[in-house]
Amino acid sequence: MLRSLPACFLVLALAFLARSSPVGNADQIPLLAADDSLGAVDYRNGELPPTENTEGWVDPRLNGGRFIDFTTRRLGEPLNIVISALSDPWVLEEPGFLEYSQSIGFAGECMGLHYGNIHNADLGDGLGRKGEHLLIRQHYFPVIGTCWESVRGGHHFRAWKQNGTLANSGAWFIGASKEKDSSNNHRIDEDGYNLGRDFFVERAIAGSHWQGKWWRAEIEWREGLMPRGRRGINHGIAVDGRVAILTVKRL
Ligand SMILES: *[C@@H]1O[C@H](CO)[C@@H](O)[C@H](O)[C@H]1NC(C)=O
Repeated sequence: MLRSLPACFLVLALAFLARSSPVGNADQIPLLAADDSLGAVDYRNGELPPTENTEGWVDPRLNGGRFIDFTTRRLGEPLNIVISALSDPWVLEEPGFLEYSQSIGFAGECMGLHYGNIHNADLGDGLGRKGEHLLIRQHYFPVIGTCWESVRGGHHFRAWKQNGTLANSGAWFIGASKEKDSSNNHRIDEDGYNLGRDFFVERAIAGSHWQGKWWRAEIEWREGLMPRGRRGINHGIAVDGRVAILTVKRL
């Protein structure tokens, strides 16, 4: 037990040196926290330890998850919106959530044609890294629908449901972003993660309706659930680290 302390110290010292070294592209170095082999989590850049007893959702970090998806093995996109389980129960179901998405200007992906890779996320619900349940794109014109958006770029989001037995809240965790047009091969905009979140949030709190159902969301902003900045973030695009917790009320 005592003998392992100096070794532990050495590892931490080496990790510190590696991080402060000017060699290489620092933006692409993932968080120390992402390396489970160290066993210790390093909260930096505004990230705070996991929050307990949140109502309608469970902090994924309480059980090894995180608020950044796994786009690649090391880089990810922020889960910047949560639809809490205190929302309209219909919105928490998949068909209801699709309707709700349409009400705020999104639609299911163009004719089942899947663009890009499936992202994994670990919501700390005991299911480990699971592929997104839904990928939803903005539609610009009702007639052409999502097909037009697929060509032009725009807003989209991926959604995962927190429904494993370890954290069976039923909340939706959402990674929203704004893309450039497809001539840029669906690259994310300069500030695309913050912009994508804010687009979704603005429409949700303004209120929306779809086929006779009306909704309006209440919002609570949370900081400290993920780090600020570009470290570990896909495309090296900085995030402000804020997560919108939405409770979508049926009117
Ligand atoms: C969790 O919810 C998703 C989305 O509705 C569904 O596809 C999946 O089967 C559910 N998993 C469990 C374990 O209930």
